[in-house]
Amino acid sequence: MSNSAEIKINGKTYELPVIEGSEGEVAIDIGKFRSQSGVITIDPGFKNTGSTKSAITFLDGEKGILRYRGYTIEELAEKSSFLEVSYLIIYGELPDQKTLEHFKNEISHHTLVHEDIKKILDGFPSAAHPMGVLSSLVTSLTAFYPESLDPNRSSDEVDLSIIRLLAKLPTFAAWAFKNEMGHPVMYPDNKLDYTANFLKMMFGLPVEDYEVDPVVAKALDQLLILHADHEQNCSTATVRVVGSSHASLYASISAGVCALWGPLHGGANQAVIEMLEQIQADGGDTAKWMAKAKDKNDPFRLMGFGHRVYKNFDPRAKIIKKAADDVLAKLGVNDPILDIAKGLEEEALRDPYFVERKLYPNVDFYSGIIYRALGIPTEMFTVMFALGRLPGWIAQWKEMRENGEPIGRPRQVYVGSNERNYVSMDNR
Ligand code: CMC
Repeated sequence: MSNSAEIKINGKTYELPVIEGSEGEVAIDIGKFRSQSGVITIDPGFKNTGSTKSAITFLDGEKGILRYRGYTIEELAEKSSFLEVSYLIIYGELPDQKTLEHFKNEISHHTLVHEDIKKILDGFPSAAHPMGVLSSLVTSLTAFYPESLDPNRSSDEVDLSIIRLLAKLPTFAAWAFKNEMGHPVMYPDNKLDYTANFLKMMFGLPVEDYEVDPVVAKALDQLLILHADHEQNCSTATVRVVGSSHASLYASISAGVCALWGPLHGGANQAVIEMLEQIQADGGDTAKWMAKAKDKNDPFRLMGFGHRVYKNFDPRAKIIKKAADDVLAKLGVNDPILDIAKGLEEEALRDPYFVERKLYPNVDFYSGIIYRALGIPTEMFTVMFALGRLPGWIAQWKEMRENGEPIGRPRQVYVGSNERNYVSMDNR
């Protein structure tokens, strides 16, 4: 591979360095190109622009490969647990038994949140979307731990912020749901593991015992693993950019929650179920909805289809599709919208519009169906995604800070008015 590239503009040739990643990915480094030539590059949506060198997640969209720190998503989803994967993603290596026990222990001892956070929660109307509540409660941690605002803290202090976030996000998420339901909040139960504790805080009530179903807890743990990181996606890029201004970890993660919320990103899991319900209510005519998705004059898109980087298949969707079948069978759930989903997938996979554009089901196509079977309400689906993505956001924020990356600040090509004189009000 050549270690330089040439760009010719206005009769002058500029030589630019080429860098290569550990999996053979090649990039032209344009960092100094503007200072040499006065010219910038433009790439709306960053479709072909790398913003960083990262050692966390490798993804090959053409081959359908996803690996965290070198380990395949298939192997981790089958053999690992969410907290082990979280440790791996954040600290770079699989923990030994003692380290993992310590990590879990630390997390279970920080699950409680300051009682005043309940006052903030009480201020939200029950109609508040839980993603907005989650983002606000994460930001509120900056008020309860003001020392976290210092960008130059020691690694031990940063580690404590990381533990607090991992420990408290399930509490915030479950409390956001309780607020919506108008039910009293449930306090964490530190005897339970991560997902079981979350389920109890979500569905338990102070007036009766709540038994966590191990099938549900295991399925949820696997879903969280599948969402744990996905390199430089919209929310992760947001976390890195916000953190690059030396805003605190909590502020950066809160911004990530908001970026994830949109229906083109994490919000797609909620949108998929709403779409399937709409198709069902409309009589289940999948061909009609496929035609709408292909009609350029119709804003409707087939939610859960297509991906910026996966152009073959989304490996997470493969695992989830199988998990959906297993979970529904184990729980004895017969969900008619699963048939609509499978019908849509079959049609799309042989439809030239979808085939030509390489549009395959993504992670969100089947995740909503499992969440539904597990009893998670639709508006909480994106919150589940946020719980899963948290270790990835943390790891990417930590890597960005440890690499001493500069503030994120893109350029633009200005296309507005040229200089003009101010016109007084009487003459407008
Ligand atoms: N239904 C119908 N047409 C589509 C769809 C879809 N779901 N997705 C893309 N297309 C078409 C699009 O209209 C365009 O067609 P043309 O070339 O004729 O103009 C072409 O495919 C390329 O699409 P794009 O919008 O330029 O691609 P993108 O990389 O900017 O967008 C995407 C990727 C995921 C936002 C998009 O595929 C989409 O909106 N999908 C539905 C929402 C969704 O499921 N999002 C979850 C993504 S997975 C979770 C996560 O990691 O965020």
